[in-house]
Amino acid sequence: MLVFVPPHPLIKHWVSVLRNEQTPCPIFKNAMAELGRLLMYEASRDWLPTITGEIQSPMGDASVEFIDPREPIAIVPILRAGLALAEHASSILPATKTYHLGIEGISRDEETLQPTVYLNKLPEKFPEGSRVFVIDPMLATGGTVVAALELIKDRGVDNNQIKVISAVAAPPALKKLSEKFPGLHVYAGILDPTVNDKGFIIPGLGDAGDRSFG
Ligand code: PRP
Repeated sequence: MLVFVPPHPLIKHWVSVLRNEQTPCPIFKNAMAELGRLLMYEASRDWLPTITGEIQSPMGDASVEFIDPREPIAIVPILRAGLALAEHASSILPATKTYHLGIEGISRDEETLQPTVYLNKLPEKFPEGSRVFVIDPMLATGGTVVAALELIKDRGVDNNQIKVISAVAAPPALKKLSEKFPGLHVYAGILDPTVNDKGFIIPGLGDAGDRSFG
């Protein structure tokens, strides 16, 4: 498994806005969307098949290269907080399908820390050759992202056809992902050192769903 933290000052900026407890809800949500846009830009580099051709510009013949619309690209945002991170991440890709997954990561007050899937809009089988971006802002204990990836793999997608995009990732989640999904690529805004006994990333940015949606 490969973990990328793109060294871009704008990524550091938006992560810092997210971290600040003084950041109000609408600005937090916008910062999450901007971070998603930048991480998608990095994650899609060298991964999107293109098609070349010739067109007429107003000034004459031009060689062009477009994203190949025949190659299936899927976005799987993990509700709720993944909706904010996916907002601009999905709009910079010209042709995608979005499949929503609602996973209650864990109840931070319970001891089990087990995720529950409450909405599954994944296809029965992904189209052959699909490239899948899984978008979840927080990789904490890893329960949520592992549950999501198992559902996606059951529907015919190999590890090396999946990229996870996340704002903050912590060691427990990364350890689980590397053990269960070799070949996976993870793009994160930042890596944090630890997760507390309630499953919150420390220092993290708090509850991304509540801070995005109030
Ligand atoms: C948060 C976060 C991740 C998950 C990570 O979602 O957005 O999806 O927890 O935790 P884990 O790695 O320990 O599973 P949450 O369950 O709070 O739901 P929400 O997005 O609806 O707030």
